[in-house]
Amino acid sequence: MQWTKKDILDIESLSAEEIELIFETAFGLKEISRRPIKKVPTLRGKTVVLFFMEPSTRTRISFDIAAKRLSADSIAIAAASSSIVKGETLLDTAGNLRAMNPDIIVIRHSYAGSAHMLARSLDISVINAGDGMHAHPTQALLDMMTVREKKGSLSGLNVAIIGDITHSRVARSNILGFTKMGARVQVAGPATMIPPALEELGASVAKSVDEALSEADVVMMLRIQKERQRNFLFPTQREYSIHFGLNASRLSMLKPDALIMHPGPLNRGVEICPEAADGPFSVILDQVTNGVALRMALYYLVSGGMRDADAD
Ligand code: CP
Repeated sequence: MQWTKKDILDIESLSAEEIELIFETAFGLKEISRRPIKKVPTLRGKTVVLFFMEPSTRTRISFDIAAKRLSADSIAIAAASSSIVKGETLLDTAGNLRAMNPDIIVIRHSYAGSAHMLARSLDISVINAGDGMHAHPTQALLDMMTVREKKGSLSGLNVAIIGDITHSRVARSNILGFTKMGARVQVAGPATMIPPALEELGASVAKSVDEALSEADVVMMLRIQKERQRNFLFPTQREYSIHFGLNASRLSMLKPDALIMHPGPLNRGVEICPEAADGPFSVILDQVTNGVALRMALYYLVSGGMRDADAD
């Protein structure tokens, strides 16, 4: 199939066939990162702006490394060092960045809808690196890629997403993605962190964390998104860990071939214990490794790499 999309904004706007094409492209590009010289000339002459208005380690660095592995020039802009602190609007900032003729803008912003707003106003590719509580499509894609790599297929798998579902753009994008690819998604966590109408997204709510864990082929633990919570939604971290965390006693409930995932950053001893994060079930660092290949694939596809390859 041909890639036709200018932007990567959310999982809703990707078909299952497009998601498969992203996986295949990423699997093909992954070996570049294992070469002694980790660079190919594919995107030489292209410029990527990394416009990160919220903190990030994994997403920003992997978008940056992905650009460099494909020989694109990348430049990062952060909130504190940008003229946004002087009152410039998001659209004015984006318009000024566009005037410098980049090819792709990657945006992370606390405002849900920011990536869509930029994509509507700019004639270059926009990739959503997380917008408020709305979407984190590249995280969901790299998560699904990791499960596809380990399990061969997503179809028919039981996926448990545990923790602060309400405030998590990762949960929303993964529910939409895994169900689109034929998996079943159950969520569990404190009642104060489970949003209404989850069934409309395709997920069901488990009666307890233990029920969700015992049936899961894939366990995705989420941190508590304190930065997006207005009220106290749980009494103490210790109680959270006992009732909702993946602790040592809950590890024994898992299927022998279950995968433990976490998008990071981890809060060790709260939602996940070190034995789970670092043990044999964990694929947390595989997620990070795949994040580079996945983002290389997205750059390649939105830059018309397939059209160029077909023309050769
Ligand atoms: N998973 C994720 O988005 O991590 P960062 O916030 O470090 O980018």
